[in-house]
Formats: sequence, C-alpha cells, structure tokens
Amino acid sequence: MLTNLNKILSDARKGGYAIAQFNFSDLEVAQGIAEGASEMGSSVIFGASEKAIEYAGIENLVDIVKNLSEQFSQIPMALHLDHGKTFEICQKAIEAGFTSVMVDGSKHPFEENIKLTRKVVEFAKGKDISVEGELGMVADLKKLEIDKDVIVFPTGEQAREFIEKTGVDALAVGLGTAHGLPLPDERIHFAVLKEVADAVSAPLVLHGGSNLPTLDVKKAVKMGVCKVNVDTELRQAFTGAIRKDLKDKATLDPREYLGDAREAIKQAVIRKIKEINGEH
Ligand code: G3H
Ligand code: ZN
Repeated sequence: MLTNLNKILSDARKGGYAIAQFNFSDLEVAQGIAEGASEMGSSVIFGASEKAIEYAGIENLVDIVKNLSEQFSQIPMALHLDHGKTFEICQKAIEAGFTSVMVDGSKHPFEENIKLTRKVVEFAKGKDISVEGELGMVADLKKLEIDKDVIVFPTGEQAREFIEKTGVDALAVGLGTAHGLPLPDERIHFAVLKEVADAVSAPLVLHGGSNLPTLDVKKAVKMGVCKVNVDTELRQAFTGAIRKDLKDKATLDPREYLGDAREAIKQAVIRKIKEINGEH
C-alpha cells in the first residue's frame, strides 16, 4: 500500500519505534527492500535522491515503487524524495507521484532555510504529501566551509521555532553522523538529540544511519528518532555480492549476479530493521 510519511510515522514517537528509509535507484535494490520489509512485516520508506532521479528517471522510480506497493499490498510504503535542495525538485517529485519529500535547506542560514521549507510545505498542503525539513548539518563537518549563520547543531529552541514556522511533518536533525563510509570520530551527539526531542513532538529523523553502533541506533530511537536513513549499508551489500559473483563465477548473465545482489539487499534490510527495532 502506497501512503505518505505522516501516516507511516504517526505512532512512532509514542510507540518508541522507528521506520527505516532505504535509498534506491534501480529495480533490484527496490525489490530487495520490499522483500526484506515484507518478511519483517514492517512499513518501509523508499528514498530517492536527486542523483537517483537523474540516473533512473523520475517516472521509472515512481512506477517501480507503485508496482511493488501493489505486489506487497499488506505493507505500508512511502516514496520519499531524499535531500531535495530546491523548491523545483520538490515540486517535480510531488507532481510525479512521490508521497513525501525532504526539503534540505540546511546549507542556508536559518531564516532562508525556514523560507524555502515553508514554500514546499505550502505547495504540499492539501495534496496528502508529507514534508521533512532539515536543521543542522549531516556531512563531513571538517570538509565543509560553513557559513557562520548556518546551524551545525540545532538547539531545542531553534527546532521548536523551525517546526512552528514551517509546519513540517518530520525533522531531520544534524547529530554528528555523516553520509557514506564512517568517519573516524563519527557519533551521535545524544545531548543534542535530547535537547531537540524535549523541545518538539514531531518525529525526528536520523541521517547517516549506516554503520553506527547498534546500541547507539536503538538508544536514538528510544529518545525520539522515528526514521533512520540508510543508503551506504545497502550499497555495501549490493556491490559486495556482485564483486563476489564476478570473481567466483564465469557468468555472462546479469540476472545471476543481480539476483544474488537483490538477495543481499533483502538480507541487509532484514538486519537493519532488526537493529532499529529489535526482533519484532
Ligand atoms: O539520506 C540518506 C542517508 O542519510 C544515508 O546515510 O550514507 O549513512 O547510509 P548513509
Ligand atoms: Zn541523508
């Protein structure tokens, strides 16, 4: 069943659980995600980045998820734009059939971030589309030249003001985690999470959710994280399976190694859902 983020996350904070967002840009990864989530009986969020859209074509991504949501009709699924940097890409995703969008204005100063995010929320209003905003940076902080007005770690007060002025349904919070392979000093800053979680009741989103200590992920979920974004761990599973097949087997049939890679995605999805919410 294809639905929006709001519906998927509506009970998550009260219930103390989180739903995983898994990023995809092709058929086999998407199938592995749907199969893994279905085996766990878990709702799931398909994340597609601007680069995924460029790579695969927006209509193809929408059709893949629509078809999977019909095949796995018992599982609530959302199709979510990941890190939409402009109003235009958010509009394009909504018009193409995405059920929710993330507008990432985090590289802008606070007031500009609010303005951009509010514009997307206004556009989504009345269309049954959910919007995630971002406050604080999710990146390799050392590699960035950061504008002094850009918020790196948000305060509870800033999070409260941001939600009040934008009306977002979910809030990604820069907590010190990064995208891609782990950085040497990457960790969740729990004091920041506690301050934000105490200040706002909206579902919080953890980006950079790959390769973190399991106990830290579970602790973050108990503290108010309702959505954990995962991309790198799936890339590792998919690419690892293909590498192994091409080394071990003299195959010319893409269905053989892509089939194995799809199975590796399914297993990685099952592992991750267990990591986030325990066995259930
Ligand atoms: O938005 C996507 C996620 O934040 C990806 O994080 O690279 O740690 O899997 P990851
Ligand atoms: Zn992210």
